Amino acid sequence: TRKPRVLSGIQPTAESFHLGNYLGALRQWVTLQDTHDAFYMVVDLHAITAGHDPQALRRRTRASAAQLLAIGLDPARCTLFVQSQVPEHTQLAWVMSAITGFGEASRMTQFKDKSAKQERASVGLFTYPILQAADILLYDTDQVPVGEDQRQHLELTRDLAGRFNKTFGKTFRLPEPYIPKETAKIGDLQEPGAKMSKSNSVPAGIIELRDTPKSAAKKIRGAVTDTGREIVFDEENKPGVSNLLSIYSVLADTPIPELEARYEGKGYGDFKGDLAEVVVEFITPIAARTEEYLADTAELDKILTEGAHRARAVATATLADVYDKVGF
Ligand code: ADP
Ligand code: NA
Repeated sequence: TRKPRVLSGIQPTAESFHLGNYLGALRQWVTLQDTHDAFYMVVDLHAITAGHDPQALRRRTRASAAQLLAIGLDPARCTLFVQSQVPEHTQLAWVMSAITGFGEASRMTQFKDKSAKQERASVGLFTYPILQAADILLYDTDQVPVGEDQRQHLELTRDLAGRFNKTFGKTFRLPEPYIPKETAKIGDLQEPGAKMSKSNSVPAGIIELRDTPKSAAKKIRGAVTDTGREIVFDEENKPGVSNLLSIYSVLADTPIPELEARYEGKGYGDFKGDLAEVVVEFITPIAARTEEYLADTAELDKILTEGAHRARAVATATLADVYDKVGF
């Protein structure tokens, strides 16, 4: 039987992913390689919708792919590619835009949030969810991992797929949200109530997968904790300690109650020192493997070209069907 197909993407908008990206999303990508027919892409087309520097984009696209390989995505077990190398994404997006209502597109709350922060929002940022619909529908995707912020976009995708099917004949599979069992929401180390985020956190608030050991350890030791001295999980009253416990628990594969027991009667200093070691042990090999991939860009580009080739085998078939149905 066919394994369910899953598709997910991440923007190449930073030199490094952070621990929040990893624990909240990318870790799941690695797991899903075995249970699913997984398609993963670095979404560079999406990354140009809010202003960008071409050299930085090229560098970050490679850096993103290198990190995805470094955390354990295996091109033999998943299809890993760069979105702009599969032109069918933009071709299908145009067709989908023709059946999207202006009013329905205008209801996307993420655009409202993002455009409010910009002086001059682009049309590309506005139609971003339509490109996202095309990303998903091109591959007969069964499941899409989505956080709360992406739910509305997946609903739009389903609406557009259903509308196309009804108008032109059954073509698209309607994708379902995939709700991972365990995803950690990781807080900012300096402001634990807020999420760790490349756009909003100060450097000391985020652990990057490409941080040096020294820098990562310093950030953990300097993390904001709370008054009192007990190391217990209590998100409301001890958000800082709780966030560190969550990170510790996942990276050391140790249940939180076990950690609470281990640190009973000990101070924040011991706890943070140990966690710093755990974090450094985790990121050091990932950072090293990332540099290895980036040291041989010819080989890296070859892996990505091969991934795009496999993605296109599916995408061209879907687009041919769509073009035929709409009368091209
Ligand atoms: P950022 O907030 O740093 O800009 P993105 O919005 O690009 O990150 O998110 C990329 C992926 O990482 C998404 O799947 C998102 O849900 C996840 N993610 C980002 N930050 C966190 C976090 N602090 N905790 C858990 N997951 C996160
Ligand atoms: Na995602």
